[in-house]
Amino acid sequence: DEARAQSASVFNFPEVEAGVDANHHVAEGYDADVLLRWGDKVFADAPEFDPTAQTEAAQERQFGYNNDFVGFIPLEGAADHGLLVVNHEYTNEHLMFPGIVTLKDGEIEVADATEDRVNIEMAAHGGTVIEIRKVDGKWQPVLDGAMNRRITVKTEMQLSGPVAGNDRVKTSDDPEGRKVFGTFNNCAGGVTPWGTYIMAEENIHGYFIGELPAEHAEAANYKRLGVPAGDYQWGNFHKRFDVGQEPNEANRFGWIVEVDVMDPNSVPKKRTALGRFKHEGAESVVAKDGRVVFYLGDDERFDYVYKFVTAGKFNAEDRAANMDLLDEGTLYVARFDEDGSMVWLPLVHGEGPLTAENGFNSQADILIEARRAADLLEATPMDRPEDIQPNPATGRAYVMLTNNTKREEANSANPRVNNAFGHIVEILETDGDFTATTGNWEILLQCGDPSVAEVGATFSTETTKNGWFGMPDNAAIDADGRLWVSTDGNSVGDTGRTDGLWAVDIEGDARGTSRLFYRVPVGAEMCGPCPTEDMSTMFVAVQHPGDGGDDWEGHGRPSYYEDLSTRWPDFNDAMPVRPAVVAITKQGGGRIG
Ligand code: FEO
Ligand code: CA
Ligand code: CA
Ligand code: CA
Repeated sequence: DEARAQSASVFNFPEVEAGVDANHHVAEGYDADVLLRWGDKVFADAPEFDPTAQTEAAQERQFGYNNDFVGFIPLEGAADHGLLVVNHEYTNEHLMFPGIVTLKDGEIEVADATEDRVNIEMAAHGGTVIEIRKVDGKWQPVLDGAMNRRITVKTEMQLSGPVAGNDRVKTSDDPEGRKVFGTFNNCAGGVTPWGTYIMAEENIHGYFIGELPAEHAEAANYKRLGVPAGDYQWGNFHKRFDVGQEPNEANRFGWIVEVDVMDPNSVPKKRTALGRFKHEGAESVVAKDGRVVFYLGDDERFDYVYKFVTAGKFNAEDRAANMDLLDEGTLYVARFDEDGSMVWLPLVHGEGPLTAENGFNSQADILIEARRAADLLEATPMDRPEDIQPNPATGRAYVMLTNNTKREEANSANPRVNNAFGHIVEILETDGDFTATTGNWEILLQCGDPSVAEVGATFSTETTKNGWFGMPDNAAIDADGRLWVSTDGNSVGDTGRTDGLWAVDIEGDARGTSRLFYRVPVGAEMCGPCPTEDMSTMFVAVQHPGDGGDDWEGHGRPSYYEDLSTRWPDFNDAMPVRPAVVAITKQGGGRIG
């Protein structure tokens, strides 16, 4: 059409109508094919999914729940064959297990967990590595793939870097403080330039129960992270999740985990040099001098934006030479100044206030309590930093700040009080050098409905009623340097729209223009977005479809088996609603978007 022809946008697809219904929707001319659902086989010998008789053993061989981060690692450089890596962030018991929800005096009750249920939940967390191949233009899992793997809360892992062996990570099962079982609440993540899979441990506080012994040394540390929140009942059956019984276990979570996907028996490493907080993700870029920079968000109201710069340089010729790059380097936290400049403040033991007088006896102490160190450095408290995506072509990075309704005082990097819809900050590293310790920043977008003046949204006037969004969460920069943003929270309440994937112009006259490319079924959140290098495919993750979001208290929702608004993606009464990864391709082939 004429308007679009005159547009300066780098995107050219017919926009999806915003709305809400039981299904997902992609732009006309594209196919959105379900690739992997909760319960699907990850191995040829895995049992068929039976939602009425699920077991821990079956779940350990099947695709986990609530897919979040999606990464694609090509095999031998092929565009149509590679490893898909997927985080399984958390579980929604009321949607997973039949018969556990009852109505009592008009109140909804979820039955207490049994040990079997807890073990299934633990097996449904973690991650999946699975070989996939494109056959006749459609992606398929390769169930006998040699690298296929499930990572769960029981997978053996190694603590690596400055915190390994520290007294504060020693437990009765691990007196050396080096061996941890499992990972959980892996939200976003990353794929490193050397082809390993990064799983970020985010809301770890919910998995611990109990009470620390009186005046325990970790009391302030745990309080700052909200440990223990008791959202899950694992600690009733596995004492390590009860802080009264195993006070140091929670110091062994909240890290960045690196997985060598080429060896299915490799022991994943918790890379403690990148600090301990509620890690959203860890997207990386090779800087001009060969060092590698990881951008890290700490997803909590008034927490911080970090980056980690490796000490060593990336070696493109020798994969093995890169395998411990994440054990040595400098962790920085961001201070966004009012004049549009910024400083990256190093979290280094002995520098500034990070000394024994303030309770930091070593670099390990600083990393375990990264938040407290960042507080002392007077970093800028942000509106819930989520995914941060560097753009290698421009030396810029895009920070998703999802929302913060508790903000009462604005500053220029967090310009709205009661920030219900979030915003996106663009970081411009000095000289386009990702290792820079100074930079500038701009607000790319203030999100929300631009037709409601008091919201203060700043989408371009070219953005349609379908194109605006709130609650940016995950993001991707594609091979053409274009920004894609997925959201978490648009489905809440009576908004008449769901979460989705939006294409956002960041350059030239179209900067700030957004278009809806794909939207999720009712109740879901949009995760993933993972464009392949050849731009033929956009993988997305549909998380918690059918869930009520904040409209319903906690887990207090009628189970899927009794009363729900969608049975996506199967639409089969014998099947619950299922989180799933979707592959979006252009009909007839070609580049996306
Ligand atoms: Fe799991 Fe910060 O979203
Ligand atoms: Ca997220
Ligand atoms: Ca991302
Ligand atoms: Ca989120």
